[in-house]
Amino acid sequence: MEQLSGRAAWITGAASGIGLALAHRLADEGVRLALVDVEEAALQQAEAALRAKGATVLAIRADVSNAEAMKAAAARALEAFGVVHIVCNNAGVGGGGGPMWLMSETDWKWTIDVNLHGVVHGIRLLLPALIASGEEGHVVNTASIAGVTSPPFMAPYVATKHAVVALSECLAKELELAHAKVAVSVLCPGFVRTNIATSERNRPEAAPGAGDNPLAAKFGGALRQLVDSGIAAEKVAEEIVRALREKRFYIFTHPEMKPGVEHRMKQILDEQTPGIDPLFRALFG
Ligand SMILES: NC(=O)c1ccc[n+]([C@@H]2O[C@H](COP(=O)([O-])OP(=O)(O)OC[C@H]3O[C@@H](n4cnc5c(N)ncnc54)[C@H](O)[C@@H]3O)[C@@H](O)[C@H]2O)c1
Repeated sequence: MEQLSGRAAWITGAASGIGLALAHRLADEGVRLALVDVEEAALQQAEAALRAKGATVLAIRADVSNAEAMKAAAARALEAFGVVHIVCNNAGVGGGGGPMWLMSETDWKWTIDVNLHGVVHGIRLLLPALIASGEEGHVVNTASIAGVTSPPFMAPYVATKHAVVALSECLAKELELAHAKVAVSVLCPGFVRTNIATSERNRPEAAPGAGDNPLAAKFGGALRQLVDSGIAAEKVAEEIVRALREKRFYIFTHPEMKPGVEHRMKQILDEQTPGIDPLFRALFG
């Protein structure tokens, strides 16, 4: 999509981190915005900041895991903009941390509902109108480098991110076979300095899960440090805009992590037992 100005975009998880940075970057390109987030106060702040710089903004408080709420949100965006050209299914949570066998059913459900069903709802509710319009469009699904690797102690997160990579690949093929003018990207960042390490703030019901386990506690601390030392969200937003223009499918913002992906692919083809990633070997011995 060469011409961004005048298009309309939908961004979930738009009140913080990558979603917020992307909203600002697209606003700078003259894109009209539907911002979707579950956090009311942060969403209002994002809306005000974007309006102050002259952007056209529709802020919708909705939980991406709630099919009914998403249906209403998508209807509002379509009513306001007619067509939503750029669909960014970005909202996500870190999920519970720790050994998988200690995680509760709600740890799994919360992560799958937000990280996977949230993306599916966006596709299901916005793509029919975009395809029917015949206009050029682009879907950007936020996965993670954890969608193409398998780091330990975050299994629900890793499983949902692998699912987002896989469904994005399916979507790209299906759109091509349907001759739709809609491209797809899947965003696979490494660590980005955002509020992801405090995702529990948006958890619907508290569940102890693996939280009391020493490995889980160690992992939580390490994750916070890694996220805090990550790249700026603005850099990720810049890369997404470049991918929109280039119609690039995979968006890797951390080239230094590609050897880890290659190593995993080779292990699969060599039918080897997955080894511990060097980063996690250093952290946990
Ligand atoms: N930060 C990283 O290191 C990193 C790395 C790889 C991938 N990601 C992915 O990037 C995406 C954005 O995360 P971020 O790092 O900007 O974190 P963030 O916490 O700063 O932003 C996430 C946003 O999603 C919103 N959100 C959470 N649950 C929601 C729900 N149920 N419904 C609607 N909105 C909800 C939050 O309120 C928040 O505004 C996520 O999908 C995350 O998995 C982040």
